[in-house]
Amino acid sequence: MNAPTTAAPPILTEASLPPSTVVVDHPLIQHKLTLMRRSRTPANEFRLLLREISMLLAYEVTRDMPTETIEIETPLATMQAPILAGKKLCLVSVLRAGGGILEGMLEILPAARVGHVGLYRDPVSLAAVEYYLKLPRDISERTALILDPMLATGNSAAAAVSEVKAAGCHSIKFVCLIAAPEGLTTLHDAHPDVPVYTAAVDSHLNEHGYIVPGIGDAGDRIFGTK
Ligand code: URA
Repeated sequence: MNAPTTAAPPILTEASLPPSTVVVDHPLIQHKLTLMRRSRTPANEFRLLLREISMLLAYEVTRDMPTETIEIETPLATMQAPILAGKKLCLVSVLRAGGGILEGMLEILPAARVGHVGLYRDPVSLAAVEYYLKLPRDISERTALILDPMLATGNSAAAAVSEVKAAGCHSIKFVCLIAAPEGLTTLHDAHPDVPVYTAAVDSHLNEHGYIVPGIGDAGDRIFGTK
């Protein structure tokens, strides 16, 4: 990674973004993301902030989950009350940084099944290379939320979506913390049916495929490796 430079501020208008993009622009999320971006934020704080933002993202990503009404008894009366219905969720973590979002999402979606896709970026071509795949057997009956903090080139994201589709799942959302415009375009071109939920859209990718201004290497910052 290059030394820090002054970068353009994050793009916050959705006008020029692919139609599948949902920027979850909430003051709590933006505040916590700013703390995460600071290079002096230590790994333990970084992980906690990512967990908290992930819970807030989960709230928005699950907004359209269907409900049905059941009859229950409160201490005072019988009532018709809503509960979740229909398709259940599968959280698919893209290794290794996806684990940071997975932790927060599982806290408020404890019944979700979990899958993992292991992908690394070829440092020269920036192409996605798969080394691990484990998905729940019944993923075709679930809505998959694919989790990766950084949507950079979009190559890994598109490959992860392809794997989940190949397993028979066709209800898919992609969830990240920061997206680059390049990654949003690549993912939308490959999978226009997959909405992308992100807390921010940053300026651009640098020549090494890092998002600018970004947060640096998400995996290194989560796990304190460097
Ligand atoms: N992956 C990261 O961890 N950070 C980036 O900026 C891009 C990809």
